[in-house]
Amino acid sequence: MKLLIPSATGIEAVVKRQLADLGYHDTRAIYGRIAVPDCAWRDVARLNMFLRSGERVLINLAQFEAKDFDALYDGIRSVCWSDWISKQGRIVVVTKSVRSLLSAHHSIQSVGKKAIADVLLGRYSELNEEGEEYRVELDITDDVCSVNLDTTGEGLHKRGYRTLPYDAPLKETTAAALIDLSVWNPDKMFSDIFCGSGTLPIEAAMKALHMAPGMHRRFAYEDWQCVAPDAHAVALEEARDARVERRLNIIGADVSERAIETARFHAMQAGVDGYIKFNVRRAQEFVTKSSYGVNISNPPYGERLGDLQTAIATASDMGKLYRTLDKWNFYFLTPLADFERHFGRRADKKRYIYNAGIKCSYYSFNGPKPTVKRL
Ligand SMILES: C[S@@+](CC[C@H](N)C(=O)[O-])C[C@H]1O[C@@H](n2cnc3c(N)ncnc32)[C@H](O)[C@@H]1O
Repeated sequence: MKLLIPSATGIEAVVKRQLADLGYHDTRAIYGRIAVPDCAWRDVARLNMFLRSGERVLINLAQFEAKDFDALYDGIRSVCWSDWISKQGRIVVVTKSVRSLLSAHHSIQSVGKKAIADVLLGRYSELNEEGEEYRVELDITDDVCSVNLDTTGEGLHKRGYRTLPYDAPLKETTAAALIDLSVWNPDKMFSDIFCGSGTLPIEAAMKALHMAPGMHRRFAYEDWQCVAPDAHAVALEEARDARVERRLNIIGADVSERAIETARFHAMQAGVDGYIKFNVRRAQEFVTKSSYGVNISNPPYGERLGDLQTAIATASDMGKLYRTLDKWNFYFLTPLADFERHFGRRADKKRYIYNAGIKCSYYSFNGPKPTVKRL
């Protein structure tokens, strides 16, 4: 099987690296998707269980040119759908069309569903669609249709721990990518001084403790009859074995009491509450005894005038704080234009990352490199 891992714009390289860490080296990024060849069901289970920043795990069932609806129908019909979908399967067809002649989503969806049903009716006497769900994605880009079966269900950012509502939280998959793009390792102090609902500190703790992000949730494939019977159980056992114990120095702070209550609850649900200290505190008042550390935050931002002025003042305050903690690395994800000018320093690195569909910059402000003792 060939698997495809959709990834948010700007973090494809992180997902490729996470795949390599899991032993998948022969991968290729194409249009925001990482292709992983030669996979089996155990790989589907492992990638759903362990990937921190991929959005979903799709099985690529077919790929063909589709410039008209006849070609689309024939291409979808070429898949032996009864190898995948049971008689009672509920089929949901979702569509994407980019730079292609076929672009009417509703028509692509109806043709897709009819082609799948026609194949299944050649094998089953009837279809009742009352059972488990199969989400089929028809992705038509440059007139080439990829037919993909989504094994994940709810996106991989849904780890299961973030259940309370909060304004503008970071996606868990994005938070994990920001951490991977930083110089943080579990021997260093970590802070997020605008932690909101706690996503960054929780993701940092989960990474440090080797906690598989998919351990406490279900995946669509778990309900399917076509899956190798022990695939999920083996991945779950690997996840239990991977967990390590260690001391961590992780801090989450926010000016809002509700944020900190929410973050504490989420940390408890994620099973990392014993590893993070949460405080109600203004970021401007952050003090620490740790001479080295890493802070990653997405500070408040809004387009209304008052919000914009606050965002600018906050950026300037963060520049001042950075200058008092000269051995720390600071990272900020923000859509604020001219952030570096307000911060008072050019970033050592700037990357573009999309957060909730908004183009943001991820700025790294480095501290000095740790000195290497000469022997
Ligand atoms: C964009 S949200 C962060 C969301 C967070 N990453 C999450 O995943 O939930 C910005 C946060 O900054 C907090 N905040 C605003 N001004 C602050 C300040 N001066 N000091 C500390 N926190 C502040 C807000 O209460 C809000 O929770």
